[in-house]
This record gives sequence, structure tokens and C-alpha cells, in this order.
Amino acid sequence: MLDHGAAPPAEDTTVPTARKTSGLSALTRRKPVEDLVAEGGQGEGGSLRRSLSMWQLTMISIGATLGTGIFVVLGEAVPEAGPAVTLAFVFAGLTALFSALSYAELAGTIPVAGSSYSYAYATMGELVAWVCGWCLMLEYGVSVAAVAVGWGDYLNELLDGTIGVTLPETLSAPPGDGGVFNLPALIVVVLAMLFLLGGARESARANTIMVGVKIAALVLFCAVGFMGFKSGNYSDFMPLGIGSVGAAGAILFFSYIGFDAASTAGEEAKDPKRDLPRAIMLSLVIVTALYVLVAAVAVGAWDWKKFAGSEASLAAIMNDVTGQSFWGTLLAAGAVISIASVVLTVLYGQTRILFAMSRDGLVPKVFGKVDARTGTPRVNTLIVSLLCGVLAAVVPLGELVNATSIGTLFAFALVNIAVVVLRYTRKDMERSFKVPFGPVFPVLGFLCCGYSMYSLDLITWAYFGAWMAAGLVFYFLYGMRRSRLATAPALAEAPAEK
Ligand code: ALA
Repeated sequence: MLDHGAAPPAEDTTVPTARKTSGLSALTRRKPVEDLVAEGGQGEGGSLRRSLSMWQLTMISIGATLGTGIFVVLGEAVPEAGPAVTLAFVFAGLTALFSALSYAELAGTIPVAGSSYSYAYATMGELVAWVCGWCLMLEYGVSVAAVAVGWGDYLNELLDGTIGVTLPETLSAPPGDGGVFNLPALIVVVLAMLFLLGGARESARANTIMVGVKIAALVLFCAVGFMGFKSGNYSDFMPLGIGSVGAAGAILFFSYIGFDAASTAGEEAKDPKRDLPRAIMLSLVIVTALYVLVAAVAVGAWDWKKFAGSEASLAAIMNDVTGQSFWGTLLAAGAVISIASVVLTVLYGQTRILFAMSRDGLVPKVFGKVDARTGTPRVNTLIVSLLCGVLAAVVPLGELVNATSIGTLFAFALVNIAVVVLRYTRKDMERSFKVPFGPVFPVLGFLCCGYSMYSLDLITWAYFGAWMAAGLVFYFLYGMRRSRLATAPALAEAPAEK
């Protein structure tokens, strides 16, 4: 266990060859791994509390991953690949798996709240770290808002199926899609915020219950859907060719986003070096197995051409197979809980990443303040939640779903590079988990991420480009000058000292 109660590292104690960083060299200044680890948990005014077990960390990762994607993505992905969508899930799962291995190695070596942002800071320097952190804001902050928007749809379906009442479209549909102010989206984010303000352990407990419910909902779908299984639906397995599998894989990659969420809990885990790698790998294995099973059952129950335009295909399949609408309502209840748990855990991740970035001076200090009583970054949580809630309520975010995927894939690609760089620059470091087969898997992970990014459409790239441009402007106007390595350059690691 780390000594998280220790004082922040004094200048010049860990770095033998301190240097001034200015101009271009500022962009590549690195933060020594030892400093990242020694600072773990410390914020302005207090420390984060180490309360999370391996089980809870696994549930955080599953909580952040299993959600909107699997409940809605088949309507988009099956028309793209036909029954071979099952292979697309395997392909996306492999992309996630290679990256998860890299995450596991780095999370066990540098167990801090910043996740891939911090790994990049230690290996590739400040500018790449900033770019990575900015991508994580797409993966976490923007996706919270996008995920919350979908909650209103399922809430309405549930209300309709149980009490026969629905919220008016202007108040519950996604903005730009018939809605004006998405009230349920704001409500689910505020509910998640209340849990997070209560403490990491309390949030983790609530999340564990929700994860249990959503796994049960998907297992129930498989059991019911299997009764309608027709092997003929598989007779033309790959009607649109092998290329369609890659394209469908890129679309449904969204449903794998989140397995890395445990890595944002590095400063609140009881035994991060041991538990983070296990939690990341275990959650991904569970999620992939469930996804492939759900896809196989869904395509077995319905002709693949029927999926086009179906937003709630899982519920519709259950209704079809049983001839009763009760099952669809039950699944809607599962979806409501699933999405709430994604919002809770992804919001958690976003606050912790900003916490780490604030400690490094790249975003305002207010994000690094810790409430001494609860051991949580309360102000950070309030700001992030309210921003995400309002964003979800009033901004049309449908287009941004693919943008969150591209941002995530970019961050994952950087993690795959970071693991190789750290192996080379810091051979001496103790690693609680090592990616097998040396650099082969990280390189494969990098290539898979690159291929998936390449498979996304031009408009997604355009959004991504605009997002990155905004991030670079912010960095050059703010972060570069306020960085702790700029104000205390002695803390920067000298290049290529190993
Ligand atoms: N993977 C998460 C979901 O599908 C973002 O909701």
C-alpha cells in the first residue's frame, strides 16, 4: 500500500538532473513516476480515502462499461454486418483486450487517479499527456452526457409499461430529436452526483447493486431470447463481406468504453498495485462474454434485416418471442438501472481525472480540492456533474457518441505506446502485472485502435479535430504556463536519463 498520508514531494529530492523547461522543451517535460506515485491521494486541503476493494473496482469497471451500448447498439451494428455482428463484438473485444492488458500493466505500476493521462505524463511528456487527458474528457465527461440522454427514453418506456403514463416529448426526448429540455438526463446526473458526494465507498456499494441488476437483465434476455432461436438466421453469416465486421466493430466499440474506469480509482483502492490489473482484466472478460452471448442470441432470434432502425431491439425481441409486453417493460427497468450505473461510474472517473490534472496545474486548482470529512473532491464533483447534466439536458449529443469512441480509441492507442516506452525507459520498476509477449500485444493494441479509428466516418473525424483544436488552444493559453512543472521546473524529469 502506498503512503498516501505523506507530504507532497519536496522539490529536487527525487530528480537528480533537474532542468529548466521552456519553449518547445516544455511540451516534452515529463513527470517522474516516483512523484506521481508519491503524490497519490493528495489534494488541496485533504486526501482521498482508500476504501475500494478488488471486487468494488471490478464492479466500477463493469458499471462504466455495460450500459447504453448493448441496449441500443444492435439496431445500428447488425444492419452493418449481419449475423457476423457476433464477430464484430469479438473484434472490438480484442481491441479492448490488448489495450486492457496495457492499462493493467500501467495501472499496477503507476496507480494514480489520472489513468492514461498520468501514464502519458510519465512517458511521453506534458503535451501528449494533455492531449490524452483531453481525449479522456470525451470518453468520460461527454459520454456521461450522451449516455444520460438515452435514459429518458427508457424511463418513458418503463413508466408507460407500468403506470401507463409518459413524460411529454419536449421534456424527455433528446434535444434536437423532438425534445427541448431533457429533464430525465439532468435528474440521473444529479442523482449520481448525490451518491458521489456521499463518498467513493457509498457510490461503489450502490454501483455494485446496479451492476448485479444489469447482468441479471442481460442473462434474462439470453434465456428468453434463446427460446426463439432459429438456426436459419445464421445461414448467410457474413452477407456484407469481411470489411463490414471492422465497420460494425468500430460502431459498437462504444459499448466497450469504460473498462478502464477502475484505473481512475488508483488513489482510492485499498491495494492498487495488486487489485487494479485484476479488476480491469476481469471486468473486460465478463463484459465481452456477455456481449457476444447477447449478440448471438439476438441474431438467432431475429432475421438480421429486421434490426434496421430498431432502437430497443432487445426489448422488442423479448416481446416477440413471448408474445407479451411485460418482458419488454422488465428489460426497460434493467436498462434504466444499467444506464444510471454508467452515469455514476463514468462521472466518478471524470472527477478523478480532473483531480489529477488539477494537481499538475493543467486545469484550475478548484478541481483538486478534497473535502476533509468525506475524503472526496466535492467541489469538483459538483462542477462536473452540473456541467454534464446541463449539457445532457440542452445540447443535441447524438452525433457525439462516435466522437467519444474516437477519443477513447486515441487514448487507448497512447496507453499502448506508453507501456512500451516505460518498459524501455524504466526497466528497473517493479511491475505487479506485465503484458505477456513483450511489445507484441501493445503493438497489436495500437494497430487495432488505429484501424477502428480509421473505420469511423469523416464527420466523426471532423468533430474529433475540432475537439482537439479546442484542447490545444486551452493548453497553450492556460496549462502550459500554469503547469506545476513550469512553476517548479526542478520537478520535471530530465530526458533520456535511463
Ligand atoms: N460503454 C458504455 C455504454 O455502453 C459507455 O453505455
